[in-house]
Amino acid sequence: MAFAGSAIGLGSIWRFPYMLGENGGAAFLLVYIVSTLILSLPIFIAESVIGRRTHSNCIGAVHKLAPGSIWRILGILSVFTPIFILGYYSVVGGWSIEYLWQAVSFRHTDFADFVGGVWAPLICFAIFTVLTCAIVAGGVKSGIEKFTSFCIPALFVLIVGIAVYSLSLPGSGEGLKYLLMPDFSKLSPKICAYAVGQSFFSLSLGMGIVITYSSYLQDKEDIGFTASGTAISTLFFSFLAGLAIMPAVFAAGLPPAAGPGLVFDSLPYVFSSMAEKAPLLSACASILFYISLLIAALTSSVSLAEVGVAWLVEEFKIRRGAACAVLCLVVLAAGALCSLSFGPLSHITIWGNNIFNIFDKTASNLLLIAGGFLGVLFVGWKMKKADVLEEIRKGRKGRDRMPDVYYFIIKYLAPGILALVFISNFF
Ligand code: TRP
Repeated sequence: MAFAGSAIGLGSIWRFPYMLGENGGAAFLLVYIVSTLILSLPIFIAESVIGRRTHSNCIGAVHKLAPGSIWRILGILSVFTPIFILGYYSVVGGWSIEYLWQAVSFRHTDFADFVGGVWAPLICFAIFTVLTCAIVAGGVKSGIEKFTSFCIPALFVLIVGIAVYSLSLPGSGEGLKYLLMPDFSKLSPKICAYAVGQSFFSLSLGMGIVITYSSYLQDKEDIGFTASGTAISTLFFSFLAGLAIMPAVFAAGLPPAAGPGLVFDSLPYVFSSMAEKAPLLSACASILFYISLLIAALTSSVSLAEVGVAWLVEEFKIRRGAACAVLCLVVLAAGALCSLSFGPLSHITIWGNNIFNIFDKTASNLLLIAGGFLGVLFVGWKMKKADVLEEIRKGRKGRDRMPDVYYFIIKYLAPGILALVFISNFF
């Protein structure tokens, strides 16, 4: 449940629909599904192997397996990327607080107006960041698990409900087509690379989260099973989010390539059209939805923060609470820049990307891919094959060939594809 909580979050509900909308619809979906199953799943397993083999945080883990070597970079990357992501993730988490507040107070502000302001988005972002750090201060078991087992099922039910409703809106058929009928002429190396990046982001791969969480896994647990459970539930959630959002986008006449605001522009349309027929239902549904979105975002941000905190605590022997406070300050500083980049700092751009987009693209297209690449190289080429296979087979009933298939992908296929994806970003 903790894995699913880390995976299912804003990545599925906010990022996936907008990436799909910007990158060709169904063709993107297809590449995303294929790359999750044949690439991300084995990489997830590789990272779990590192974590459970050593039972330590990601820098410590690499140190145990390959003391004093240049593999340290893997550990360092794994600690800093999450902090980097947390900077802008918390900004979006803040947006969900604002939208919850709007739902409770029956008002609606246009997304562009809201993010263009200074204080409202900053305050929401700060609340989200402090909440995240407070939960992490409570510890993995009591903090994260309790939250997760309650909120994921609730979110699931709500998204199915919204998807059904949004499919009934006039004009939604076009959205369904956009989501399901691939136009292969749209496929390009860039879109494939973005789909791989999205798959990594969604599964929390490439930066030590899976390593850190797996370090708490017991030997009786089957790594392949936890990995496929996480991959499939995340795929399913993302697809459902697509079903809920895309028809509504077309019904509302919004452009599918609207960018990071897509979900926050289209959902209010769904709720307000629902309110014309059933005001009470719409109010309850929207409030519940934003609450669950917020909690899903928190279970993910908590996982991002956990990596840095685990490292500070184990490596520097400082108290958990103090580590959380340090992390909170760092994230507040980075996130403030991202938050302001839709308003007062919107003139700062690189190749047309504002600070927020720079953070987002650097993280998922470069840092995550680099982290994943080093991770599979480490497991495939540095660790002993027998150790890796033993770790994958632990807790596995029966003797099938899957561990060998995973190993083959980890050793040969994954590094090759990831290298291509990484390089393609520069063209
Ligand atoms: N997977 C989460 C989501 O989809 C976000 C996230 C949490 C993440 N931890 C991560 C992304 C680690 C990349 C790496 O919302």
